[in-house]
Amino acid sequence: MISIRNLSFRYRGAGRDALSGINLEIPDGDFLGIIGPSGAGKSTLTYSLNGVVPQHYGGDFYGQVLVNGLDTVEAGTEEIARELGSVFQDIDGQMVAAVVEDEILFALENFRIPHDEIEGRLETALAAAGIGDLRRRTLSSLSGGQKQKAAIAAIIALRPRIIVLDEATGELDPASSRQVFEFLRDLNREFGVTIVAVEQKIMLLCEFARHLAVMDQGRLVLHGTVAEVLQQPESMEGAGVNIPRVTSLGKGLRDRGLYPGPLPHNTEQAKAMIESLRLGEGKLNGANSEDGKPKDGNLRDGNSGDSNAAF
Ligand SMILES: Nc1ncnc2c1ncn2[C@@H]1O[C@H](COP(=O)(O)OP(=O)(O)OP(=O)(O)O)[C@@H](O)[C@H]1O
Ligand SMILES: [Mg+2]
Repeated sequence: MISIRNLSFRYRGAGRDALSGINLEIPDGDFLGIIGPSGAGKSTLTYSLNGVVPQHYGGDFYGQVLVNGLDTVEAGTEEIARELGSVFQDIDGQMVAAVVEDEILFALENFRIPHDEIEGRLETALAAAGIGDLRRRTLSSLSGGQKQKAAIAAIIALRPRIIVLDEATGELDPASSRQVFEFLRDLNREFGVTIVAVEQKIMLLCEFARHLAVMDQGRLVLHGTVAEVLQQPESMEGAGVNIPRVTSLGKGLRDRGLYPGPLPHNTEQAKAMIESLRLGEGKLNGANSEDGKPKDGNLRDGNSGDSNAAF
């Protein structure tokens, strides 16, 4: 469990706060997506979780961050890293070895994991990341997605209860980005690992995250379930965050008084929205459906009450 209370932080010498009055609880087993424009403070927030702020980057720090009960100002960064593994925005800067298995071995040895556990943990982490066949490859020969998985494997070998990733898919194509998020979802679902992912691709967060946090100018401007946050598209746009196309479609229809229901944030919900519109239209036009067949049977199913009020 992560508990952030009244957190404000200003980098030494900076003219303004990078984080300002943040209050956020991240329960065990959550999958939280963090989104916001450049400079919003997303990376700084992740640094406050792993202790890099204020232990490595100094400045004015107010408030408190507790990670599984550890105060990130007082606990050593290595102690925190046993609870919370971090994949930084710049993974090349994070990787230290030349070969995949050495990267993971280095992490395990650094954490003084007993020798008889090392091979098992190495194999499990590689298998979990789906890169068992890349064990002896050099990191420089890997694709962006493979390298990202190797970085995550080095973290999961340490078996932290929480994994924080800062723009893990920044350099990846859509298919590799999905693969990374599918893998995170498996870790979350099967092993209960808490995932905190800073991510610019809103559709990935809509599909994979449970909660969303929207940041702007050092502040947490929205926080809730994905569905709750997306019901406030004006606030998201105000923070400079693109909303999913299906959501802006729903908003456009709602603004015109054509659709009174909840705004969709994935294609399934968009289909349901379109279906409700189509059925509403069918009700007005009787049998004039696209395929020319009478639609009376459908009209009364699943389309009642308020959702018809606007038609
Ligand atoms: N080491 C630093 N020293 C001084 N100021 C910094 C430092 N790192 C970041 N900042 C400033 O803190 C603010 C928040 O930066 P941060 O990197 O946390 O934003 P971000 O949301 O991660 O942005 P991006 O999407 O570009 O990664 C910005 O104004 C930035 O210029
Ligand atoms: Mg950043």
